[in-house]
Amino acid sequence: MFKIAVIPGDGIGPEVIAEALGVLETVSRLERFTYALETHDLGAQRYLATGNPLPDGVLSQLRNSDAILLGAVGHPAVAPGILERGILLRLRFDFQQYINLRPVRLYPGVETPIRGKGPESIDFLVVRENNEDLYVGAGGFAHRGTPQEVAIQTSINTRAGVERCLRFAFDQARRRAAEGPFRGLSEADRQEGFVRKVTLVAKTNVLTFAHDLWMRAFTEISRDYPEIKCDYQHVDACCMRMVVSPETFDVIVTTNMFGDIITDLGAVLQGGMGLAASGNLNPERTAPSMFEPVHGSAPDIAGQGIANPLAAILSTAMLLEHLEMPAAAGRIREAVSRVLQEPRFKTPDRGGTATTAEVGCAVRAALES
Ligand code: NAI
Ligand code: MG
Repeated sequence: MFKIAVIPGDGIGPEVIAEALGVLETVSRLERFTYALETHDLGAQRYLATGNPLPDGVLSQLRNSDAILLGAVGHPAVAPGILERGILLRLRFDFQQYINLRPVRLYPGVETPIRGKGPESIDFLVVRENNEDLYVGAGGFAHRGTPQEVAIQTSINTRAGVERCLRFAFDQARRRAAEGPFRGLSEADRQEGFVRKVTLVAKTNVLTFAHDLWMRAFTEISRDYPEIKCDYQHVDACCMRMVVSPETFDVIVTTNMFGDIITDLGAVLQGGMGLAASGNLNPERTAPSMFEPVHGSAPDIAGQGIANPLAAILSTAMLLEHLEMPAAAGRIREAVSRVLQEPRFKTPDRGGTATTAEVGCAVRAALES
């Protein structure tokens, strides 16, 4: 029996997680697996009451789970960063979830703001490094609060950290090759025997130390994957190409900060923040992995019951895939795909009037039918 830890969190987190858990319950019945839930009330309320965003006792309980499902953290009553750093980043770092996997896939029936592009053009995978770069919190102030103030925030890039991330990306390309060759390859690339493509996204022209390391490691590791085409894009050009020619991307591998930013753009390509799922993976399974929608706690719509729960539901599918239940994950994606084709189940972010609960209910019904 699986032990799944749940952190609903703040704002719309608990609203979308409630629907994700409903879907989990239904699919477990259909696929005949059992699980135990362990819910943790981490988030703004607990922090405001106790002053501690993540007590050690909770951390060790979380460590004993098979996987973690997280809604979102962040609240207007708490200074920015306290909950995001204290809960989200702490878990990503402590549990060595060094990969942040963010699929960008446009489902049929979903509108993308990119004119003339459909599901056949938008289907790529972003592998974001999740344990290093500017997010490690290395830095400090001098003369804080004075006109002479200095603030330093350092980007950390280790050879080992970069290499394991790159290898993961090449392995994902290999896995995707098993599903079929990449349509975005040129005729010449096919002739050379390439089946899939990995694009490194960085800024080698300006970040000449950190991204030189990334580029050298990329070039060396690529030799172990001769059937995978290697591509490189500067991050700014990548943003432009994601809009103009998304069909040229297969697997993107990138740094922590660039991955954070380009995947919000990716979310928009696939129909909005309400649809973007992610997993924080510890590929060696020395600690649990954590699955969460890409979106935050959305204080602007919290409490109204109108948040789109599909990102949380698709994150639950990723969780099941990680627990080696691909059939259960496939069932959820199939059900979501059917719900997305019905206009009456559009939440306001997609231009409709459906509620969070109605969409969750529709996915459960699609699973059963
Ligand atoms: P956000 O993702 O919460 O919201 C951005 C916009 O997208 C808002 O207009 C919101 O209404 C909309 N949106 C987001 N999810 C939606 C959904 N499921 N259905 C419909 N509309 C949705 O990002 P924002 O506003 O920058 O951050 C709010 C708080 O969340 C902050 O405290 C931030 O630090 C935190 N945050 C937490 C994350 C996490 O827990 N993983 C990730 C991103 C932000
Ligand atoms: Mg982000």
